[in-house]
Amino acid sequence: MLEGIALHHGYDFRDYAPGPLRRNILMSMALEGVPTISAYQDRVLHDPASLQRFLNTVGVNVTSMFREALALRALREEIVPWLRTFPSVRIWVAGCATGEEVASLAIVLRETGMLGRTRIYATDINEASLAIAARGLLPLETVQSGEADYRRSGGRGALTDYYAVVGDMARLDRTLLSGVTWARHNLISDASFNDFHVILCTNVLTHFSRRLHMQVQQLLYDSLVRSGYLIVGRLESVIRWGNLGVYNRVRESSGVYRKGAA
Ligand SMILES: C[S@@+](CC[C@H](N)C(=O)[O-])C[C@H]1O[C@@H](n2cnc3c(N)ncnc32)[C@H](O)[C@@H]1O
Repeated sequence: MLEGIALHHGYDFRDYAPGPLRRNILMSMALEGVPTISAYQDRVLHDPASLQRFLNTVGVNVTSMFREALALRALREEIVPWLRTFPSVRIWVAGCATGEEVASLAIVLRETGMLGRTRIYATDINEASLAIAARGLLPLETVQSGEADYRRSGGRGALTDYYAVVGDMARLDRTLLSGVTWARHNLISDASFNDFHVILCTNVLTHFSRRLHMQVQQLLYDSLVRSGYLIVGRLESVIRWGNLGVYNRVRESSGVYRKGAA
């Protein structure tokens, strides 16, 4: 089934971590109400809506505002002073899901005076997620529940400063996302497309097998400028299996690494 999806649709899940992959496929089958893997394969290969639901579950698009609060705190306190030394800055959010992390990043950059000179490239394999992200419209509850983590990230204002309430949705301040380029990019099969001062790739590597993890890690390493920063999830590690390039850990328990600096 995974081979069929890779060949037909270009989404290659064959090397994702087997345990979670199996669980997510079984969950998808239960949600779809299909009894056998061959019936499910048939549906996913021929029904675009079913494929989309497969991507949401198996690709795992769970996210939240200021999810990696400590990393964003490190961004404010340690990374931004370095970014200030550049006339313009490029940041890549790889695996941005529905955009909550990009909005959080943009808020930190706004509060540190860096948003105006930063170009953010936000990519994901899942086009439906990208379309949601680009609208700048998030469920109100999602934004409201990010207040505590916003504060943990060093935020001193209030998230309400950054959105207007539209029914049960929060419409983000338009200027927050105006410097964002949204694009489909597959970390497994697509090449690097620039070099970046900072890359956020949080809660994505965790879904990959060791081989894939190493492959994607190399792509991220090669996509960073010298002394650039890589941010992964706090529960992830780029050194678990031995990092391919040379990184220094910036803060314990924050998932922030710096390339090649002493
Ligand atoms: C759990 S979400 C993490 C979202 C966000 N980075 C965060 O930390 O909240 C994982 C995201 O990785 C994306 N993803 C999975 N495999 C990918 C791949 N091969 N290339 C690019 N994105 C991928 C999924 O579509 C999903 O949006």
